Amino acid sequence: MKILVTGAAGMLGRAILDEYEDSGHCVGVDLPDGDLTLRDTALELMMQHSPHHVVHAAAYTDVDRAESDPERAHAVNAEATRLLARCCTSLNIPFTYISTDYVFDGEDPAGYFEDAERRPLGVYGRTKALGEEEVQSAGGDWRIIRTSWLFGPGPKNFVLTIRRLLSERETLTVVDDQTGCPTYAPDLARIMRLVLLGKGRGIFHATNAGATTWHAFAREVARLSGADPERILPCATAAYPTPARRPACSILRSRNLESIGLGPRPSWQDAVERYIAGLARHESPEPGVRP
Ligand SMILES: NC(=O)c1ccc[n+]([C@@H]2O[C@H](COP(=O)([O-])OP(=O)(O)OC[C@H]3O[C@@H](n4cnc5c(N)ncnc54)[C@H](OP(=O)(O)O)[C@@H]3O)[C@@H](O)[C@H]2O)c1
Repeated sequence: MKILVTGAAGMLGRAILDEYEDSGHCVGVDLPDGDLTLRDTALELMMQHSPHHVVHAAAYTDVDRAESDPERAHAVNAEATRLLARCCTSLNIPFTYISTDYVFDGEDPAGYFEDAERRPLGVYGRTKALGEEEVQSAGGDWRIIRTSWLFGPGPKNFVLTIRRLLSERETLTVVDDQTGCPTYAPDLARIMRLVLLGKGRGIFHATNAGATTWHAFAREVARLSGADPERILPCATAAYPTPARRPACSILRSRNLESIGLGPRPSWQDAVERYIAGLARHESPEPGVRP
């Protein structure tokens, strides 16, 4: 099976390509290979690569910038998804769309199962929700995989930001009133293997096990980096207004992965520990995190 992955230069795209590296069954494309918002790009990529499955991870992911750039966010997250999904339907190619917890409003403290109603709060969530609708109405062989709070190899993520700030400042404040499920991109790529094998259709929620706040997540990063977690102080979202509103509780609860045979998923703490252990092995002689 040859899988074409869009957004291959992004955090998740890279993790998917790494996951399939040994098999040679995966090919990645990103913006320099073609802008997916243009009408002919999807077909050109299909002709060039003849995939058996398309994983659409390319997206406009800057949640705050989307608020002042809604046309581009809509073009990338909704319009490009429509073009790609329809192209796959017409060529009979299974299609998997990567989506987000931000399609929910976060008002349910119990979290959200796959069939919960979409109620996005901001432009990013709204355009991703429209992307989901486009996938469903394109009518082909589709899957939607929603994930959340991604971290993993790449130049920028929450774990790296906290470690950098811990090396620069004595204390830092992190919001403690947003709850979600941190997800290690390589763990998600592994879970996706099962979904892509074709055993299931529909919407899947795929995260590491467990839920936490950004504040507790940051404390765990500190602890695993050898720094005193007490240096991370809690604050309310209201104290740090951002252009985009974020869901207060976007726990993604899963039934459908289990129904296609997925066993227990690693906890987010276990994932952070593996990631930080890997960072320590590869770290350059830059100033480390202060204890
Ligand atoms: N990161 C998270 O915490 C998170 C959480 C939940 C769900 N997700 C979803 O997971 C998926 C992957 O996220 P990620 O964090 O890996 O994203 P990412 O790092 O931002 O990567 C997305 C990639 O898509 C490319 N792209 C943007 N517009 C494009 C276009 N018009 N045509 C072709 N390629 C385009 C981007 O290129 P440029 O960088 O050059 O624009 C980038 O390389 C996305 O669908 C996202 O919505 C992410």
